[in-house]
Amino acid sequence: MEALDASIVHAALGSMATDAARFRLTVLDHCDSTNTWLLDKTPSFDDAIEVVVCERQTGGRGRRGRSWLSAPGDSLTFSLRWRFAAGAPSLSGLSLAVGVAVAQALERMGAAGVQLKWPNDILVSVGKRGGKLGGILVETLVQDGATVVVIGIGLNVHLPPSLVKAVNESGGIEAADLVAIMPAAPSRNLLLANLLLELANALTRFSAQGFAGFAESWQRRNAYADCTVRIVNQSAATIEGRCVGVAADGALLLDTDAGLRRIVNGEVSLRL
Ligand code: ATP
Ligand code: BTN
Repeated sequence: MEALDASIVHAALGSMATDAARFRLTVLDHCDSTNTWLLDKTPSFDDAIEVVVCERQTGGRGRRGRSWLSAPGDSLTFSLRWRFAAGAPSLSGLSLAVGVAVAQALERMGAAGVQLKWPNDILVSVGKRGGKLGGILVETLVQDGATVVVIGIGLNVHLPPSLVKAVNESGGIEAADLVAIMPAAPSRNLLLANLLLELANALTRFSAQGFAGFAESWQRRNAYADCTVRIVNQSAATIEGRCVGVAADGALLLDTDAGLRRIVNGEVSLRL
């Protein structure tokens, strides 16, 4: 597969947007985690959107200390840093809005069947089969009173057998890849450019309106809409109900025996 190349990404951004110069892109051959790399990087106080993409992550992270696995040449693993101005809306729902942006970018490039699982997973459905195509990790820090987020995205562009095996052994749901749902194998550089533009648009909208404006788009791609699901939480009883959708603040809505329950983003996992 084509190597990651900053000049190709910048050229694609330049052909699609007038403000492409806002993105400051670093391409790394290897690092621990692109999220960690950006969290550790000295903040800049200009308007640049700092982005790092890496070929080999040695310590890719998911939520709650879980691992994100990838394969050089076959995966896309990157992070972007975004500063919210004072007075920005609540960030609950941000990982869902990012999911909508990722789905829209993939669909614009011809992907079919992209679905979202609350709160941070990108799934695909192919007939009766489906799987996890990617994940989103949002981490927050406060810098000089402003809220800064680092948004990390991992996508399986193509799954070599060794990665399928490693993901299976990690105990998660089955993995899926983009090549299975696109008309042709995408260039990772073009994929990154499309994702960055869609993410910058979504983050600008989110800064102004919060999650409310994304709720309908999220709901349309809700992988578990109307399914009976369980909310698993290590420190509390399991909640079971029918997945109704998401509220305007990004909370998951479940129709349970005890009535409508709101599940807020936190230390919980959603299971079919
Ligand atoms: P939750 O519902 O709590 O989000 P999850 O299993 O999706 O549960 P995450 O923390 O979101 O957990 O994602 C990390 C998990 O994703 C890992 O534990 C692993 O099972 C799985 N995983 C890791 N790498 C990949 C990959 N390349 N493709 C698909 N799944 C992966
Ligand atoms: C999840 O499914 O829990 C989220 C996975 C997020 C993985 C991406 S890969 C790029 C960035 N760097 C990381 O260490 N994690 C995110």
